[in-house]
Amino acid sequence: MLARVLLVASEAIPLVKTGGLADVITALASALRDQNVDATVLMPAYPSALEGATGLREVATLEHLPGGPGRLLHGCMPDSDIRIVLLDTESFRARSANPYLDQSGEEYADNALSFAALAHAAVAICAGRTKLPKPHVVHANDWHAGLVPALLRANGVTDVGSVLTIHNLAFQGNYPMDLAARIGLPDEMLTADAVEFWGQISFLKAGIRYADRISTVSNSYAQEILTPRFGHGMDGVLNYRKEALVAIPNAVDTALWNPAGDALIARRFTQSDMKGKIACKWDLQKQFDLPVDPFAPLLALGSRITHQKMADVALLALPEILARHPRLQVAVLGRGDHGYEQGFKQLAEQFPERVGVHIGYDEQRAHALHAGADMLLHGTRFEPYGLTPIYSMRYGTIPVASRVGGLIDTIVDAGASGAVQEGANGILFDGELPSDMVEGMDRAFGLFARSAEWQTMQRNAMAADFSWSGPAQQYISLYEQIAPEHARKLFARQAPATQPRITGSSGATRALPRIRVGRFSHA
Ligand code: ADP
Ligand code: GLC
Repeated sequence: MLARVLLVASEAIPLVKTGGLADVITALASALRDQNVDATVLMPAYPSALEGATGLREVATLEHLPGGPGRLLHGCMPDSDIRIVLLDTESFRARSANPYLDQSGEEYADNALSFAALAHAAVAICAGRTKLPKPHVVHANDWHAGLVPALLRANGVTDVGSVLTIHNLAFQGNYPMDLAARIGLPDEMLTADAVEFWGQISFLKAGIRYADRISTVSNSYAQEILTPRFGHGMDGVLNYRKEALVAIPNAVDTALWNPAGDALIARRFTQSDMKGKIACKWDLQKQFDLPVDPFAPLLALGSRITHQKMADVALLALPEILARHPRLQVAVLGRGDHGYEQGFKQLAEQFPERVGVHIGYDEQRAHALHAGADMLLHGTRFEPYGLTPIYSMRYGTIPVASRVGGLIDTIVDAGASGAVQEGANGILFDGELPSDMVEGMDRAFGLFARSAEWQTMQRNAMAADFSWSGPAQQYISLYEQIAPEHARKLFARQAPATQPRITGSSGATRALPRIRVGRFSHA
């Protein structure tokens, strides 16, 4: 028998994606399956998921979900053996454009009930109330699945271990308290030491409070979220649960983001033969209406266009950066806040032939961007992990990024002056002011002019190992600790020698002790 894990999430590529969560869920499920863990993904049956999934068949009808009835459909990801279960409700079926926002950019009014239904569906599977086998561990991701650990407790399901992974603490799923009864939360959970957060019900806090283990996606972010600056108001409850908090860094799908085998780029290339990158640069300049010039430094920006990603700062800094570096070209790919999107469009008008902007979500263009650019500017106020700069590094595109969160752990800064630091693969800058970004870009240009050193950084960036096998093993080790007694040996067979890191009381990371925690002992 294999160890069974139910991953609960709102997004998974290629079915639905708004950010890095989607990449991580599918890659993790695949890596777990490679290591003989039977991982299944439970997610909403958005129209794109219904359309993309294969072999769907009904495995349960759930009459009494918050917001109305639903059914569970079991099938596979397209072109893959990754198993999925889709929660099909009227509400999720209606979400064709964006999973969270309506046509006018407002949160759907029924988000609380819809994602509460997702958590109830997970509990039904964990309680053995469907035709699916009961998992040994349920792994909830972000606020969308935050209610799962609390509802397991409320429903007396004690033989399934629970993990909550925080991919982004800024999104919390906070909703009016008067929904509690419809959501299925008992009165005793509505207090400040349970799920109440500033007078509201917080889905994310419910997960933090009741999960057997909480994990987040980089060592540095795990430290940061215990502080008021990065805690988004949750640092109190996170400190309370510090002994259950671990960091398991993300990784990337190294087959999908691979310059040597990428079908979405103009010409493939490798570390030892970079000629293809010149063709990719040519292609990127064409795609973004920039003059084709192999010698013009080409800077990419590619992310959600939001306050988190310092879009406001980039808009103020870029005119100055363009003025200081007259040959520079800029290619921007992104979607996000309307005001910032307009700002980038205006920038392109203000700097014709120097700034090309594509507003929208476009997987092919994202690959072209990372493959063809020389540098990636990735300012961000906080970054739990940050897949985007890693994607760029895989293609020898040097990131110029904020020194926060996961970026501290994955980018080795070239250093302020003089010789380039050993192993450097990027540039990190401090601060959130336009001048901080300008200074980071000045340093990047200084290095770009020293081609031998630049090439060394490119090689370092391309050689770094960001594969999923290590992190998947760390998750398995974590699952082993919280699985019911009889199932631990199933995970133990797969468990690695190295243990996930826990934040601990000193603030320094240390190996998570192999303690046997009583169920809900910290809750
Ligand atoms: P976050 O999850 O905070 O948005 P990450 O960098 O971890 O940040 O992940 C972002 C993911 O979304 C990456 O896979 C990136 O390529 C993708 N992405 C973001 N914006 C776009 C876009 N406009 N078009 C295509 N892919 C995008
Ligand atoms: C979030 C974070 C990002 C992380 C991703 C996957 O959206 O903002 O830093 O890489 O989740 O964990």
